[in-house]
Amino acid sequence: MSLATRPSNDPLVHQWMPFTATRQFLEQPRIITRAEGVYYYNTRGEKLLDGSSGLYCIPLGHGRREIREAITKQLEELDYAPPFQYGVPSAFRLATEMAQMLPSGLNRIMFANSGSEAVETALKVALQYHRVRGEGARMRFIGRERGYHGVNFGGWSVGGMVNNRKAFGVGLPGVAHLRHTHIKENYFQMGEGGHGADLADDLERFVNLHGADTIAACIVEPIAGSTGILVPPKGYLKRLREICTKHGILLIFDEVITGFGRTGQAFAAETFGVVPDIMTMAKALTNGVIPMAAVAVREDIQQTILDAAPPDGVEFYHGYTYTAHPVACAAALATLKIYRDEDVFARVRSLAPAFLEQIGAFKGVDGVVDTRGFGLLGAVELAPAGKPGERGFKILRRGFEEGLVMRAAGDSIVLAPPFAATADEISKMIDIIRKLIKETA
Ligand SMILES: Cc1ncc(COP(=O)(O)O)c(C=O)c1O
Repeated sequence: MSLATRPSNDPLVHQWMPFTATRQFLEQPRIITRAEGVYYYNTRGEKLLDGSSGLYCIPLGHGRREIREAITKQLEELDYAPPFQYGVPSAFRLATEMAQMLPSGLNRIMFANSGSEAVETALKVALQYHRVRGEGARMRFIGRERGYHGVNFGGWSVGGMVNNRKAFGVGLPGVAHLRHTHIKENYFQMGEGGHGADLADDLERFVNLHGADTIAACIVEPIAGSTGILVPPKGYLKRLREICTKHGILLIFDEVITGFGRTGQAFAAETFGVVPDIMTMAKALTNGVIPMAAVAVREDIQQTILDAAPPDGVEFYHGYTYTAHPVACAAALATLKIYRDEDVFARVRSLAPAFLEQIGAFKGVDGVVDTRGFGLLGAVELAPAGKPGERGFKILRRGFEEGLVMRAAGDSIVLAPPFAATADEISKMIDIIRKLIKETA
């Protein structure tokens, strides 16, 4: 239906919703009014399981008192201070705590407000680092097909999601994309696949084609989340690391989804034993309660940039009005405390095997073409019914009626349960998906 034909007092028409099929939504609105623990509530007060931890951002579940109280306390004390040339105590505390959590060496932290902003920040750090070292010709970025690095110009340019690119022109110049790693040989392999480590050698091909001295950085998600949970083949990330090191290319891990426990350790870098030079984080940093993101940078990268500027000069011309917002910092500090005090990432390790087994058990179900997953990330890919993506979207819509909020990446149904979910609640999510797969066959 055309929006123009809706009455002007229609309360739903004025918000232009993000990544939403607006006209379909207006026909069948999916409104969430309340949340508690691992449940949402719709306008009729009915419960829905949160099968996607919000947008992968609320692993502790909704309504954690400690985070709410920390935010309130911070608001009473200091609601805002300008982040350029001034600092707030909670931001320094948070950066210190994060540096202690991150792989060693990744101990300089700059904050931002979204994953997209963190990615732009990371790309700009890489460019400036090379420039101040006299290697200013290193301006190319290497991304990957089916990668997602947010929606800003740098992020979508290095990203590889077709629909996120095609309406917006040519993007950043000098970007090349590695092939993605979702290859047939690894279908139905839960965890890391045994084939495809050599896909990392695409990076060598770009070095041969363009010259290493023109390449600033290579950015990948350790596990590609938004395109349907593409787990790296065994040895792939190590190989990327080796090639980057060999050619002086910075390796950026975008851990916006994988950061803070999703893979069973604090970061996927730890899980896969590969340390990048720069890491982006967001989402679970504040348990999704307040927007916040961060970029961790190797100490010597920051030092090189600092040393290149006059002693009282601004070294990095970048930042946001809400960088290191004190309220976001308070939310993040409270969230990290819960992660530590409740040993939350160990809970992921204990829930993951049964979760992945249940995802893997979709193998053999009519119309299921792949299952994959790692930690508390899982996907069941379906053969399309109608146009590609139609079936996935239908399942997402029906899920809302059946009591489940989830993600659909094309025809891949994605589950990312909150770490706070019980094994029983996760099984209920799986049951709903099973029912809907059957129904849409
Ligand atoms: C890996 C990755 N990078 C960046 C982003 C962008 O984050 P945001 O939506 O907070 O801008 C996302 C969002 O899902 C993501 O998954």
